[in-house]
Amino acid sequence: MLVQLSLGGALVALSIAMHVAVLDFVAQRVRAVVDRHAIPLHSRLRLTLVTITVAATFTSHVAQIWVWALLYLALGEFQGLEPALYFSTVVFTTVGFGDIVASPEWRLLASCEAAAGMLLFGLVGARLWFLQTVEQESLQAEVNQTKGRTAHRTMVPEYYGASCLSCHGSPQGEIDITGYAKEGGHEGELGGAISITLYR
Ligand code: HEC
Repeated sequence: MLVQLSLGGALVALSIAMHVAVLDFVAQRVRAVVDRHAIPLHSRLRLTLVTITVAATFTSHVAQIWVWALLYLALGEFQGLEPALYFSTVVFTTVGFGDIVASPEWRLLASCEAAAGMLLFGLVGARLWFLQTVEQESLQAEVNQTKGRTAHRTMVPEYYGASCLSCHGSPQGEIDITGYAKEGGHEGELGGAISITLYR
């Protein structure tokens, strides 16, 4: 039993390390792209970035399933790659059909895989949430020469929320309560940008 649990523990640690490494790598690249181009929350490019993150995460899960499958194969649990891979997938996703089961000798190992699968799938949700919320806050600032003086400059996008539409929404051209014409904007659209210059 101890052999199973230590082997299981080691592989769970390896799975976590693999997954965190992949997610971290993708997150850093995505953040770099978001920062460099100051991508607004609602742009298509951001959707593409989320899609890439999901695809990378999926690939990482598949890789882990393969690692566990190869271990079962090495231990002689299954005859052939297909049943080992099938068993590993069913366990990792915690579906547990039960049509193929591990022998009593190694079944605790399979439990460890199920625990790892559950944990790592949870991590994906957390990661995507982070991508959707925290990274939209990322700001870009630079120091340059403005009107002959050194200054920190930054630009902050202003998106229309529901509360903005009474003055900036539809119908376009209608006079709002401030006496200005409405712009015909929609929720989530870029209304304008605030430019901030801080002289040193
Ligand atoms: C009570 C009415 C009202 C509300 C609500 C309102 N604004 Fe405005 N907003 C104005 C007026 C008036 C101007 C100046 C219009 C002009 O100079 O042509 C303005 C100007 C702006 C500008 C400058 C660009 C432009 O069109 O002149 C931006 C960007 C802007 N508002 C964004 C927002 C956002 C984002 C919200 C919601 C968080 C919001 N506004 C809510 C009345 C409002």
